[in-house]
Amino acid sequence: MILTQKLEDYTQEQHSTWNFLYDRQKAHLQGKASRLYLDTLDAMSDTLTRTSIPMVEDMALQLKETTGWSIEIVPGLIPPSDFFKLLSKKKFCTSTWVRRRDQVDYIEEPDMFHDTFGHIPPLMNADFASFMHRFGEVGTAIANDGRDFQVTQLQRLYWFFVEFGFIREDGEAKLFGAGIMSSYGETSHAWALRNKLKVFNLEEVMSTPFRADVIQHEYYILESIPELERNLNNWFERTY
Ligand SMILES: [Fe+2]
Repeated sequence: MILTQKLEDYTQEQHSTWNFLYDRQKAHLQGKASRLYLDTLDAMSDTLTRTSIPMVEDMALQLKETTGWSIEIVPGLIPPSDFFKLLSKKKFCTSTWVRRRDQVDYIEEPDMFHDTFGHIPPLMNADFASFMHRFGEVGTAIANDGRDFQVTQLQRLYWFFVEFGFIREDGEAKLFGAGIMSSYGETSHAWALRNKLKVFNLEEVMSTPFRADVIQHEYYILESIPELERNLNNWFERTY
């Protein structure tokens, strides 16, 4: 199924909700989010637009020119094996529906603000883009083999880094994960716990279950994305 996005499908109210979410969150993230995230968000200001809902095609074109990534439109959450496969082809996925105005503080299912504002900018960074590609390749091999427990381990890695991780920049803990970037409440909550972070350790993270239905109570801080990619490769070699 090929899904498309049409500008005329959105109402003015939806654009204005997007604009509200973007401005409120960008201001809230200043001084708290990683430079990696804030710099790439700024670099995408022409395509990941502020005042109107961005067009996926425009963002995909910019990514393609920068790190070779592209974006596929999906209706919502997709099975892990499909998700891994997309990543292995350097494709991220996003929904195109935007939450209602009365849902600006909380939604159960990820909408376009989460998928795009949260996830897309760091894919402009070569280290993160490389990690995500490798993550997709490893995940595809493991899912194709029907190794459910290892799929769960990869989902935990994704959760505690890509969705809710901190990274260290110039010795300081900074917010990074898309689940934090796209949530006003989670940003305040995570930032308040910045002095109580656990050091990201792949083995530990892979054996730690998570809950998607509550605000997080433990966050991990990653020292280096290339090092995580090397550790993922070592884990993959040991697993096979
Ligand atoms: Fe997400």
